[in-house]
Amino acid sequence: MKRLAVSMFVMGMLMFQTACGSQSTGEESAKAAVESVENAAETETNIGEEIQVAENAETEEKDADTEDMTMKITAGDTTFTAALAENSSAEALKELLAGGPLTIQMSDYASMEKVGPVGTDLPRNDEQIDADAGDIILYQGNSLVIYYGTNSWNFTRIGKIQDVTKEELLEAFGDGDVTVTFSLGSEESGIIKEADETEAKTKALVVYFSATGNTEAVAETLAGLQDADLYEIVPEQPYTDEDLNYRDNATRATVKQNDPEARPAIQGSIPDFEQYGVVYVGFPIWWSDMPRILYTFFDTYDFSGKTIAPFCTSGGSGLSGTPETIAELEADAVELDGLHISGSSVSNAEKSVSEWLDEIGMAK
Ligand SMILES: Cc1cc2nc3c(=O)[nH]c(=O)nc-3n(C[C@H](O)[C@H](O)[C@H](O)COP(=O)(O)O)c2cc1C
Repeated sequence: MKRLAVSMFVMGMLMFQTACGSQSTGEESAKAAVESVENAAETETNIGEEIQVAENAETEEKDADTEDMTMKITAGDTTFTAALAENSSAEALKELLAGGPLTIQMSDYASMEKVGPVGTDLPRNDEQIDADAGDIILYQGNSLVIYYGTNSWNFTRIGKIQDVTKEELLEAFGDGDVTVTFSLGSEESGIIKEADETEAKTKALVVYFSATGNTEAVAETLAGLQDADLYEIVPEQPYTDEDLNYRDNATRATVKQNDPEARPAIQGSIPDFEQYGVVYVGFPIWWSDMPRILYTFFDTYDFSGKTIAPFCTSGGSGLSGTPETIAELEADAVELDGLHISGSSVSNAEKSVSEWLDEIGMAK
C-alpha cells in the first residue's frame, strides 16, 4: 500500500516537475440547591412562605434537569438545540453522545425529513406520532430523523427543536443530503446561530504548513472562500531545499519522517485559539503521512469540541491515512471528510475546494 502510494508520488512528482519546471516545490448541584432551599424552609413559621419555598425548590430542580436534557444539532455554521424526550431511547442516545459527538450523513426523504443511520441500535419506544417541523425521531431503532415537514407514523420520540420553522430548518440543512453533527448541549432550547457566543464558536481558521508553497496556495483559496483567519505553521528551523530532497534518505525531512517521536518545534503560537469552532488544517504529504511538525501542532492545541477539516497537497498520493491519524490524535473533535489536491493543480483549485466545502456541508 505504502509502496503504491510512494510510486504514485514519484509519478506525480515527475508530472508536477514537468508542469511547473521545478522540483522544490447537575445532579449534585440540583440536590444542593433543593437542600439549601429546604433548610431555609425549615426556619420559616409562615406556612404560605413554606409552600412558596417548596415550589421554588421544585422549579430549580426542574431547571437543572432541563439543562441536562438538551442536544445540539449542527449543520454547517448553524447549531440548533433540541430538548430531549423523557424516555429510554433519548437516555440511550445521551449516553452515546457522552462518548463524543456523532456525525451522520443524512439523506433528504420525501421533502419532509432528513434521515441517517445512528450506527447502532437504540431502545425503541414506538407510538403513533404526528411529527412536525423540529421533531427528532428514532426510526426502527437505528435511524435518526429530523422533520421539517409533517408525517404521522408509529415511531419513537427523541426530542424537539422548539420554535423553529420549516424554512429555518431548510435554510440550515438545504434540500438535499447533509452532514449533521449531534452532540450534548446545555443551552436553552432554540436556534443559537444568531447569538454572539455562537458566532464566536463557529469562527473558522485555516492553519497550514507548506514547505514549497503548494499547500499555502490552497490554504489562501480556502480562507478566501470561507472568510476565515489564516495561520501558517512556521518551523523554528526553516527547511532548505537540501532538507527537502526526498531522493536522499539522509536529508532532514526524510530522517524526521522516519522517527515517529520527532516533534519539530513551531515558531510562535495561534492567538486566542479558543475562539475558533472550525479549523481547516492543511499540509503536504511526506512519505505517505503528515510532516512531523503537524504532530507537534496537534500535540500543542486542544481541539475538544472543535470541528477539524483536513486538506493536503501531494505529488501523487491521496490523503494517505492522515484523516485516521488526526482522528486518533484528536479523539474529542469532530472530523469532516478531507480534501486532496495534486501539487500540480493548486493554482486552479478553487472549484475543487468549493465542491469539497459543499460536500462536507461547510459552504458559505
Ligand atoms: C520529504 C518529502 C516527502 C514527500 N513524500 C510524498 C509522498 O509520499 N507522496 C506524495 O504524493 N508526495 C510526496 N511529496 C511531495 C509533496 O507532498 C508535494 O510536493 C506537496 O504538494 C508539497 O506541498 P508544499 O509545497 O505545501 O510543501 C514529498 C515531498 C517531500 C519534500
